[in-house]
Amino acid sequence: MAIFLTGSTGYIGAHIASNLLADHREPLNLLVRARDEQEGRERLWRSLQLHMDFPQFEDVLHSRIRIFLGDITSSRFGLEDAKYAQLVRTTDSVIHCAASLNRKSEKMCLNVNLRGTLEVVQLAMRARDQHGLRRFSHVSTVAVAGHRKDEVVEEDTAIDWNRSDYDPYARTKKFCEHMVHQLLPDVPRTIFRPSIVLGDSRRPETNQFDMVRAFVFLAGLPALPFRAADKIDIVPVDYVAAAVATLHQKEKPKHEIYHLSSGAGSETFVQLTDALAAAQGKRGPTYVPSLEGPSSAMINALAGRAGKKIGGLATLLKVFLPYLVWNTVFDNARVVSEMGSKPAPFSQYCFPLLKFSRETKFSYPYRAWPAVSAEAHS
Ligand SMILES: NC(=O)c1ccc[n+]([C@@H]2O[C@H](COP(=O)([O-])OP(=O)(O)OC[C@H]3O[C@@H](n4cnc5c(N)ncnc54)[C@H](OP(=O)(O)O)[C@@H]3O)[C@@H](O)[C@H]2O)c1
Repeated sequence: MAIFLTGSTGYIGAHIASNLLADHREPLNLLVRARDEQEGRERLWRSLQLHMDFPQFEDVLHSRIRIFLGDITSSRFGLEDAKYAQLVRTTDSVIHCAASLNRKSEKMCLNVNLRGTLEVVQLAMRARDQHGLRRFSHVSTVAVAGHRKDEVVEEDTAIDWNRSDYDPYARTKKFCEHMVHQLLPDVPRTIFRPSIVLGDSRRPETNQFDMVRAFVFLAGLPALPFRAADKIDIVPVDYVAAAVATLHQKEKPKHEIYHLSSGAGSETFVQLTDALAAAQGKRGPTYVPSLEGPSSAMINALAGRAGKKIGGLATLLKVFLPYLVWNTVFDNARVVSEMGSKPAPFSQYCFPLLKFSRETKFSYPYRAWPAVSAEAHS
């Protein structure tokens, strides 16, 4: 029997897959979008090469991984009947990590997050009805808490249906949690809500640059339109992946919902800029909170309109801005108690991440699929 994991070609999903492969024993059923088997293997190698070399990858590919070529927005993932039956038969727990993080697109969020999650829940129901389902873990987000200001949010009170959401991503992820809760009442469920997942506290390398780009841009400004003492809840991906893998595999996690976040230990803007300034031997920026209004007006005006580079960056900043100025953190006492450790503070690993991202010009130096192995598979 295997763990069915969606989103393994993405940033967090690949970290979860690698953690499960390294620290646990179960085989993995992985849903991968690709036209054929070889493209599926190559896409998986791209996402997992941050974690292992090619011989290790080939080893787990043959011994622990079964790839299902499918899309969560298609009925039964678009799999042939025999393949879908095999997926149901061999799945005894689910980690649903795939999502659209496209905060601007109602359509993408509706299709991938809502229709896609419903499809994954239906797979879980079929496995439950056939042979029982050990656990359904859903990777959600702290964005489900909606509009907030100067708060410490706890797990059980985060969802408030009377509150507005910042974007379609937050709105659809909120309903996904509801769907999982309503449609799988008799299955052990775990909801994981990461905060801003930025970098890996063990290494400078990353292959996801969206949020990093915004961070590097802001880190280079001489003046920032924020309040210096506002907190920002950032969590490293290694902590998130370890928590998802460990709690998913626990027989009885203590809670149904976990914030995977830095909580009260979140750092302030000025703590982060001081750490960066010290690492670079420079002066830190000036904080001018009164610039927040004019800055967001400028960002809104530039987003999607100016040249590709500036417009793209402005669009990025526009979607992330609400999460930078809300001065809201997410209580992490549950996960800290259950994992026995806290996430590393961002100030400890932000400079290596900044340096790596600048040096590689925000692009990971992917290694291609080796030619010898390609012959063996053809
Ligand atoms: N990154 C963060 O800061 C953050 C914070 C809080 C919560 N989260 C949550 O963490 C999860 C993973 O986020 P991430 O940052 O790792 O995102 P990501 O790198 O964009 O990965 C998204 C994954 O979902 C897959 N996917 C998207 N549409 C799909 C479809 N139609 N069918 C099958 N698979 C599909 C992608 O497959 P392809 O490779 O084929 O596109 C990819 O594997 C999401 O649920 C997100 O809401 C992320």
